[in-house]
Amino acid sequence: MATDFTEETAADAVIESFAPSTDPRLREVMTSLVRHLHAFAREVELTIPEWNAAIDFLTRTGHKCDDDRQEFILLSDVLGLSMLTETISNRKFGVATESTVLGPFHVVESPPLELGASIDKVGTGMPCVVTGRVVSVDGTPLAGATLDVWQANDQGFYDVQQPAVQPRGNGRGLFTADGDGRFWFRTIVPSHYPIPTDGPVGEMLIATGRHAFRPAHIHFIVAAPGHRDLTTHIFVAGSEYIESDTVFAVKKSLVIDFVPVDDPAEGNKWDVPVPFRHADFEIIMQPGA
Ligand code: BEZ
Ligand code: FE
Repeated sequence: MATDFTEETAADAVIESFAPSTDPRLREVMTSLVRHLHAFAREVELTIPEWNAAIDFLTRTGHKCDDDRQEFILLSDVLGLSMLTETISNRKFGVATESTVLGPFHVVESPPLELGASIDKVGTGMPCVVTGRVVSVDGTPLAGATLDVWQANDQGFYDVQQPAVQPRGNGRGLFTADGDGRFWFRTIVPSHYPIPTDGPVGEMLIATGRHAFRPAHIHFIVAAPGHRDLTTHIFVAGSEYIESDTVFAVKKSLVIDFVPVDDPAEGNKWDVPVPFRHADFEIIMQPGA
């Protein structure tokens, strides 16, 4: 006869119920999940009202999801799980540029633009020139690397958050590096901004006394043949919240000086009014699939 389900035997009872034919990786993940989940419930002595509140929270998180909004990813982000998973998957090899979270504001089709074009279609905010070079870990320039770029405006909103205010594609561009791996484009300096807080994740931030802000940043997905795709940001040095990103995505190597420039000759060179800011950095790609 089977023994009673007790606090001590509960996890084993669930794990032993998995069929022998269970996929080995699924078994490994599920076994660990059950052990940690049960250990958590025992450690905090989970009450039935708390269990009910958790089910309600997860149900409302699901109801908040639609084609444009993924509240579960946001939950993973503010719990640090997205960054932990990202960091495990992209363990840094030598000098390669570090990765960071994708976030929910990437769109599948960024508009292809010529090098030097502006991704700013509105004309407010501090003009900015972004330049750099894509290379492999041994310094070889990666001609033809593609850079999918997106950012918030100077008020801290992405185009998709303000369809009546910003033209679709504002703050976005898909660039192809030249024969020497170099890229350059014009934009405006982005602002720090709050992640969406009108759902269960926002409630959780308030209940735990946390703010909702991310420091100013520009997103990149860089791709080059024979190299691992790189999903990363550059962060504006000195931005508010650089020390306390609510999704824990800042890595020191990704914080870049957006240098003030007021030399009119430099403005002419890049076709921007002075004063402007100039961010220059190297992207080092990891060989691999
Ligand atoms: C973003 O940078 O776009 C972002 C990342 C995580 C959560 C919300 C926004
Ligand atoms: Fe962002």
